[in-house]
Amino acid sequence: MYDAPASEQKVTQNETKIAARNVQVFYGSTHAIKDVNVEIEDKTVTAFIGPSGCGKSTFLRCLNRMNDTIDICRVEGDILLDGEDIYDARVDPVQLRAKVGMVFQKPNPFPKSIYDNIAYGPRIHGLAKNKADLDDIVEKSLRRGAIWDEVKDRLHAPGTGLSGGQQQRLCIARAVATEPEVLLMDEPCSALDPIATGQVEELIDELRENYSVVIVTHSMQQAARVSQKTAFFHLGNLVEYGETGQIFTNPVDPRTESYITGRIG
Ligand SMILES: Nc1ncnc2c1ncn2[C@@H]1O[C@H](COP(=O)(O)OP(=O)(O)O)[C@@H](O)[C@H]1O
Ligand SMILES: [Mg+2]
Repeated sequence: MYDAPASEQKVTQNETKIAARNVQVFYGSTHAIKDVNVEIEDKTVTAFIGPSGCGKSTFLRCLNRMNDTIDICRVEGDILLDGEDIYDARVDPVQLRAKVGMVFQKPNPFPKSIYDNIAYGPRIHGLAKNKADLDDIVEKSLRRGAIWDEVKDRLHAPGTGLSGGQQQRLCIARAVATEPEVLLMDEPCSALDPIATGQVEELIDELRENYSVVIVTHSMQQAARVSQKTAFFHLGNLVEYGETGQIFTNPVDPRTESYITGRIG
């Protein structure tokens, strides 16, 4: 087989941000994630794709211990963030979730003002020294969420009064306000119209400069548009993981090929 010289290979390789080793997840007797090993890179958008029920959300929730909140859920194996085991007894899950932020399918702003939606996390984590400091964090976060211009004149209006797309960008701004290193997004555009989806996708591309972003999506078009790495899950297995372009044009596993050509899923 022909091996392209290094200069012709488009493969990018950033530092590993999160490493999963032999991860298994059980809900009671349901074995939802089966021995998953993967290294998720820094400053990269990684897409998790696969048919409904294959374990994408379950595996995503392992990465910031959100599964801890589900009583019957049991996680085995190791997940390392910058080489440190996030399931170590000394790790405070609240601190961890500030570092590894999450954005959900349905925008879920707090029933508070736009300002307070953003200020909430920095306040509980003591990130602001005074009011001016907090004002700065709020502005910076709303800018990172690409929504500052739309809300700067009504910071004290309720967050719930924004449109769906604006609410989702507000939630992304809220997640970045605590200075996370990783952003997990579970189908963040599925409740949005195409215009709002485009805005959030553009934002995801910008976030990649500063964060490791992991996005679950049921849209292969979206995965192809926003991600550099793609992981294909099927029946709880991580079947294939690699460069997004390669996964979509030249998958190695027949199950991946069936999925991307529409034969399963
Ligand atoms: N809270 C839960 N309690 C019990 N089983 C669950 C729970 N969440 C997910 N599951 C099961 O785990 C499997 C994977 O689900 P999920 O991670 O939601 O898949 P996906 O996000 O790919 O659609 C499915 O069989 C689902 O029924
Ligand atoms: Mg899901």
